[in-house]
Amino acid sequence: MSTTDEVMSKHLQDHFSEYTYDMFMMNMSSELEEMDLFSEWVEILNKKNLYTFEAIRSAAQKTEIDLTRQNGEKVHIINLSSYNYLGFSYHPEVIAAAQEAVGKYGLGASSSPVISGTYSIHKQLEQALEKFFGLPDRGVSLFTAGYSVNLGAISAFIKPGNYVIMDEASHMSIIEGAKLSGGEILYFKHNNMDHLEELLKKTCDGFTRVLICMEGVYSGDGDYGNVKGVVKLAKQYGAYTLVDEAHSALIAGENGRGVCEEQGVLEDVDLYVMTFSKAFGGVGGGVYGKKSIINYMNWYAKCRMFSCALDPAVTGGMTKVVELAGSEIGMARRNKLKSNASYFRKLLSGKVNLGECDSWVVIVNFGNESKTLQLNDYLQKTGLDTSIIQFPAVPKGEARIRMFITSEHSEEQLNKAADIILKAADKFDFLKK
Ligand SMILES: Cc1ncc(COP(=O)(O)O)c(C=O)c1O
Repeated sequence: MSTTDEVMSKHLQDHFSEYTYDMFMMNMSSELEEMDLFSEWVEILNKKNLYTFEAIRSAAQKTEIDLTRQNGEKVHIINLSSYNYLGFSYHPEVIAAAQEAVGKYGLGASSSPVISGTYSIHKQLEQALEKFFGLPDRGVSLFTAGYSVNLGAISAFIKPGNYVIMDEASHMSIIEGAKLSGGEILYFKHNNMDHLEELLKKTCDGFTRVLICMEGVYSGDGDYGNVKGVVKLAKQYGAYTLVDEAHSALIAGENGRGVCEEQGVLEDVDLYVMTFSKAFGGVGGGVYGKKSIINYMNWYAKCRMFSCALDPAVTGGMTKVVELAGSEIGMARRNKLKSNASYFRKLLSGKVNLGECDSWVVIVNFGNESKTLQLNDYLQKTGLDTSIIQFPAVPKGEARIRMFITSEHSEEQLNKAADIILKAADKFDFLKK
């Protein structure tokens, strides 16, 4: 070990809770120092029994489950850390449909969708989604991850010399898709239409392609995007729009068509992004838009063209989910989720800092990231699993407990969860003064 390594290692031992993920990214030397340091950090956390990540589940993402932490410790928790918003991942009809598909088509698709990996079950899923969203002359391009949808769709749509203007709170997959495109990237202040307009004035000249990217419900803030405002400006300046409805498809809007439906602009959005890993309860995703755009995506989104098609079991399961989401079951679960979320927010309102969140992604800001490890440990040990996030996923000093409410949680579970949050807020000093 060099002297510098020893100094860094000592610093890591003494200040382990001040380290954040981004600190292990940079290293210009030929040595793999950042990897050794990161492993050392994980080992320190494990020894101190503070490594709360990657806790192992041995059953479906239900509302209350047992976890085994990396050090073998077992805890029973109320599950507010999975985005299985409508409980579809373990719906018996969804499981049966997935089993039937795997029996008929086998485990993998064994080819790119453009070569020989497109099965009749993929066409059924596309048609089910087209029917669900209901607009004429639209199509769906399927991907194997929600992340890949943004990566592939943005990099196919935007070329060097074009612009991507995105909300500053946009998900990493939008940022990386924009970087991959080679276009110039500009950020507008979160949900700030004046700032967006300023940037549109600078970039829209009638010749250059401009794509505005945003989320329906923001995954890190739990608030709604102003899709209506963005669409109005896009039309005015001749820009295109991409709305990532990862956390709102099947939920927001009267028919579950997302925030775009709720704000009356579904028809005006050019690229509607959905991920199957959230309310759909599966994995994969798709982009919905005009047929000509979708045909292009199928070939020019490279992470689709040069990658194996969505597996049959998931495709079968997702087709059943879309059918259920369009039925009375979907309506009932959507409504229950919304009432559960507002019930839970009311239990915490005025007592902790909920930020602007007004959806089923409930955020409690606790501020300083140096509390994250101990706080998450406390929450798990007292019976609550959440999706805690800190810098660089959110700005420095704005670490937060993020909780995903589902339609399947009972009032009793939500009461218990709120009680744990308030006790933690008292112990870790983030009760509202
Ligand atoms: C807004 C948003 N977009 C895209 C993704 C990526 O989706 P997936 O996990 O399905 O790849 C996520 C995942 O959390 C997300 O929150």
